[in-house]
Amino acid sequence: MGAPDRLVLLADPAVRSAIAGEFGREVEYYAATGSTQDRARQLADAGHPGALIVAEEQSSGRGRQGRSWVAQPGTSLLASWLFRPLPADPALFALLSGVAIARALTDLGIPEARLKWPNDVQLGGKKVAGVLADAVTGANGGALVLGIGVNVHQRDLGELSGTATSLAREARAADRLALLARIDRELRRVASDSDERRVFLEEWRLRSSTLGREVEVRSAGAAVRGFARSIADDGALVLETASGSHRVLAGEVFVA
Ligand code: BTN
Repeated sequence: MGAPDRLVLLADPAVRSAIAGEFGREVEYYAATGSTQDRARQLADAGHPGALIVAEEQSSGRGRQGRSWVAQPGTSLLASWLFRPLPADPALFALLSGVAIARALTDLGIPEARLKWPNDVQLGGKKVAGVLADAVTGANGGALVLGIGVNVHQRDLGELSGTATSLAREARAADRLALLARIDRELRRVASDSDERRVFLEEWRLRSSTLGREVEVRSAGAAVRGFARSIADDGALVLETASGSHRVLAGEVFVA
């Protein structure tokens, strides 16, 4: 591991409580857990007002579209935020979280992140971070559990190396605590009001690696091919297809 990494400081309750004051939410830190997303979901279902769950290792990390999210212990930033009330439409908020990650990386001297629709953050054309949003409804009102995984220190991505990368491989390793603090700051900004969300959406468009290309979007067994023309204000991908303009709300993009 190149750069010093201070995430382990969160193991200290005094540090967590200082950070909770700054982040405006309770912080939990696990050396190992099943999934930070599941823990945040548990708190959401119990009516918790807001939390940030961080882990060094997950035994059942979850990705989008039912996939698993695998990371060697201590290599990644693995974190889930519980926002209550629901800050925005979950799909839009997840999309804009990609901008929050890209801005955080810029702040740490890595300005070149690009965004692949809907929620992937890329460096050198490969995925370096992903976002998962779970909307929570219930007697306690709506909430959002937002999970972020950033590959930070991995030197070798093993069988994922064709499509995934890490900060250490593409740019420079970062301190995961500094990264967490910067992502948190940008997420709070985007959660705060709709004007900020408009600014973030414009930045998403500028950082996009999807727009302006012929793509195929696959979702639930169906596929749509077309030219990725724009992102609508609700985060939908607008494709020009042989049969006209087509809005896509979810799926996986492949360059055609
Ligand atoms: C994706 O498929 O791109 C989304 C990946 C989200 C992974 C993060 S890691 C922290 C949080 N806990 C989980 O189980 N998943 C998310």
